[in-house]
Amino acid sequence: MESKLEEKDLEKLCFDLNDDEAREAYKALYDDYKPSLIPRILGAILVGCGSLVYGSKPSLLKFRSVEVIARVPYHSWTASVYTVLTMFYWNEEKALSLSCINEYAQHGQDNETMHVVAISHITKDEGLHAGLFRHTLIPMIFAFFYYWSSYLLHLMCSRYSYELNFLFEEHAYEQYDQFIRENEKELREKKLECKYVEWYGRTCATQYDFFCSVRNDELIHRNSSIEETC
Ligand SMILES: [Fe+2]
Ligand SMILES: [Fe+2]
Repeated sequence: MESKLEEKDLEKLCFDLNDDEAREAYKALYDDYKPSLIPRILGAILVGCGSLVYGSKPSLLKFRSVEVIARVPYHSWTASVYTVLTMFYWNEEKALSLSCINEYAQHGQDNETMHVVAISHITKDEGLHAGLFRHTLIPMIFAFFYYWSSYLLHLMCSRYSYELNFLFEEHAYEQYDQFIRENEKELREKKLECKYVEWYGRTCATQYDFFCSVRNDELIHRNSSIEETC
């Protein structure tokens, strides 16, 4: 049993989605997907709270805070999978399928970590002040509760947890897409020199390249939350 998306394929897919037509076609695959009622309620609360604290308009400081929270579901799936594996190690098929989920979740958390480190680097470079309460403590508290909710939800009904992430990632995709459209000219003029992005193995000459790649990652996260897990 193999994960449907290998890591090298994900980087290639991310690059290929810079093409508008290719991105639209990939997006259309899950545009009509309708998550269940419980994830829809939780998703509305999650996005609503984010908009209440950081505003509905995308901004660098909002991205910095939201990316702290975005890593959490992937992290919680890894923990949940290990918990379940301690009960099903005798079942090879089940162990294999859980290990595939784990592989996918590992990549998700590494990718989101790259987002939050690079965006923190950019906000510092731009001279933006990230407040201790609004941009550090609130995301940490939020991440703590989101982690445990996602962990328990994954143990009780993993599909609900994946669908909640689908909704979160869909919102992230829309926010980055709007941000790029509204700031394209300025983003193209800003060079990006971030050691963490280089270490991750991604080449982004400008902030425009970087934010397009993050937007594409979020779309991949949205689709793969269903494709890779359900
Ligand atoms: Fe992200
Ligand atoms: Fe994401």
